[in-house]
Amino acid sequence: MASRLFSLDGRVALVSGASRGLGLAMARALAEHGARVVLNGRDAATLDAAAARLRAEGLDAGTCAFDVADHDASVAGIDAVAARHGRLDVLVCNAGIQHRRPLPEWRMADWERVVSVNLSSCFAMAQAAARHMVAAGRGRIVMTGSIMSVLARPTVHAYVAAKSGLWGLTRSLAAELGPQGVNVNCIAPGFFRTEMNEAILANPEFVAWVEGRTPLKRWADPAEIGGAAVFLASDAGSYVNGHLLAVDGGLVSVV
Ligand SMILES: NC(=O)c1ccc[n+]([C@@H]2O[C@H](COP(=O)([O-])OP(=O)(O)OC[C@H]3O[C@@H](n4cnc5c(N)ncnc54)[C@H](OP(=O)(O)O)[C@@H]3O)[C@@H](O)[C@H]2O)c1
Repeated sequence: MASRLFSLDGRVALVSGASRGLGLAMARALAEHGARVVLNGRDAATLDAAAARLRAEGLDAGTCAFDVADHDASVAGIDAVAARHGRLDVLVCNAGIQHRRPLPEWRMADWERVVSVNLSSCFAMAQAAARHMVAAGRGRIVMTGSIMSVLARPTVHAYVAAKSGLWGLTRSLAAELGPQGVNVNCIAPGFFRTEMNEAILANPEFVAWVEGRTPLKRWADPAEIGGAAVFLASDAGSYVNGHLLAVDGGLVSVV
């Protein structure tokens, strides 16, 4: 008999920032393992197209458009998903943005935008999702952190601060929600070929630096994030809580 360890049959999963990139890849992997996935992003038309592509692959996918920086809209969106499907088993807080500037050029508005989308939104969404999960006595919350949750580079100050904070939030949520049956974990992706990295992918020197710095000697394909999400969302990850799971080709393990 095939193992049910990684099965998500009957589970409902909401993935923020899932119209493309890592969010869409995680949603696809969750759906391939049986979940009914709900894709979030800001643009309803883009989301509908992404969900239609998943349905064309035989997967169960719907959408819920909202801006994660609008915390009231996030809470309403999460409540609507739970009401529509009668449950919410998995929340992946994945939506994120980047802003790269030398320190003197940073404006407070840039800092606040990045922290709001990459960190504060995850607190608001986790709090809203936890209400449904705690009532059900089970649930999984997965944050998309970064290797910048534990490392740093110049120019990306708010991103490093927000992703480090997200790793801290993962631990505090794991501490409080664990006793109530909800596991909270954080995935730390290394360098993936997505739209967010368009600017650095256009720089051959930086591309080569990543290849040299990463023990697997290459950038990651977005599909390579899917296994970590399925693991943390499924019974396979039942005793994993408050963990930072690097999916980085070994980058954070070496100097
Ligand atoms: N790519 C990497 O190498 C890498 C490495 C480490 C961590 N990460 C993290 O992984 C996550 C996904 O990154 P990615 O590379 O897949 O980025 P991406 O290709 O730029 O995709 C970002 C996604 O987030 C959505 N989004 C952006 N702002 C949003 C908002 N305010 N509300 C709702 N949705 C929003 C975007 O859709 P709309 O624009 O249509 O709203 C899109 O679906 C981010 O948290 C990022 O920090 C990425």
